[in-house]
Amino acid sequence: MVNTSSVNTLLSAIEDTGRDARRGGYSRPVYSAAELELREWFSAEAARRNLAVETDRNGILWAWWDLPGNDPTSPERRGALVTGSHLDSVPGGGAFDGPLGVASALAAVDLLQARENSGSLFRNRALAVAVFPEEEGSRFGVACLGSRLLAGTIDPRKALALRDADGNTFADVSRANGRDPDAMGRDDAVLGTIGDFVELHVEQGRGLNTEEFTDAAGHGPAVAVGGSVLGHGRWRFSISGQGNHAGTTLMADRADPMVAAAQLIVAVRQTAAAQSGARATVGRLEPVPGGTNVIASRVDLWLDVRHPDDAVTAALVEKIHGQAQKIAAFEGCSVQLTEESYSGTVHFDPALQRSLEQSVARTVPGAPVLATGAGHDAGVLAARVPTGMLFVRNPSGISHSPEEYVEDGDAQLGVEALADVLQDLL
Ligand code: GLV
Ligand code: MN
Ligand code: MN
Repeated sequence: MVNTSSVNTLLSAIEDTGRDARRGGYSRPVYSAAELELREWFSAEAARRNLAVETDRNGILWAWWDLPGNDPTSPERRGALVTGSHLDSVPGGGAFDGPLGVASALAAVDLLQARENSGSLFRNRALAVAVFPEEEGSRFGVACLGSRLLAGTIDPRKALALRDADGNTFADVSRANGRDPDAMGRDDAVLGTIGDFVELHVEQGRGLNTEEFTDAAGHGPAVAVGGSVLGHGRWRFSISGQGNHAGTTLMADRADPMVAAAQLIVAVRQTAAAQSGARATVGRLEPVPGGTNVIASRVDLWLDVRHPDDAVTAALVEKIHGQAQKIAAFEGCSVQLTEESYSGTVHFDPALQRSLEQSVARTVPGAPVLATGAGHDAGVLAARVPTGMLFVRNPSGISHSPEEYVEDGDAQLGVEALADVLQDLL
């Protein structure tokens, strides 16, 4: 007999982990005490369901529900069905971005195990729940680092050399957490176990709240099926000037990179606003050395640009680079641009998407297909295996912020839809 847990009970067990009193919401960077505690929670919940928990060479957690009577070392795991998401967060993020997908996967396993026990589910393949590290890139700067390493879409040498804000390399932090940096990178054995990957995620915008989908009471459908992931990338601008004294340096004598950075941020917004479908953000800026009475010698700022057309994104970044050079020169500064990561627009596997649409319709009739502007491990893995996504309604329409929200009833419908999707694919 399986005791089914609700997704809301699972999430309430971790509601105090990684709370950020200063920023609000949650800060759960990869391999921080909070993220490690969440991994422990996941492993314990998986063990309660008799799932075999393993960590692969890239630090991805796997909880395997093998076929009955199956030897876990046998090749029966090849082509398995995989679901899951991530447990790390942006600084001051919401409660659902990542954990909703992991908790929903565990709750869906409960439903599926109950169905198997009652004879209404017959499986032809194993199922695994995966937890991907550093999905947000909030500690080492590159999003979806675990899935990129697994898929081989990032050079492991580049990944291992990435540094966090304290100067620790990803190699050192991985080693301290039990990984062998020399063994990290594309893993065809693990990729071979993924026949299909389906990620459930909180909807991160207003997609399900638009008039097109809402009823007279303004209520949208609880679940959508993913259609595509917007192309997106991160670039670092380093603007160098002359560090100096705030009191003794006349205004005419300054080469202040902070002034150039301020103008560049305004130029970014104007340039993106003039391009239909574009989104561009400067959400992080670091003056060096960063003193109230110090004219900075350098300012690093990070640009996030997204557009459905990869060529348009490239042209936008080139345009912004030109503007940065002009602005910097006018302020007596210089500027250097580095691309830190880029992922082109991804359209999910059409056959898998159709299957998801049919399965979800049983729980949420009329569930629409939505494109997402957020990045996901499912988008990265799509380069190697068929992937698909489900999105659960977020009435606030806000994400990467404490106001991100999911109603209990919608979360439960999301689990039921995910369980039906998985059952039909098993
Ligand atoms: C992650 O959520 C991203 O879209 O940056
Ligand atoms: Mn996410
Ligand atoms: Mn996110």
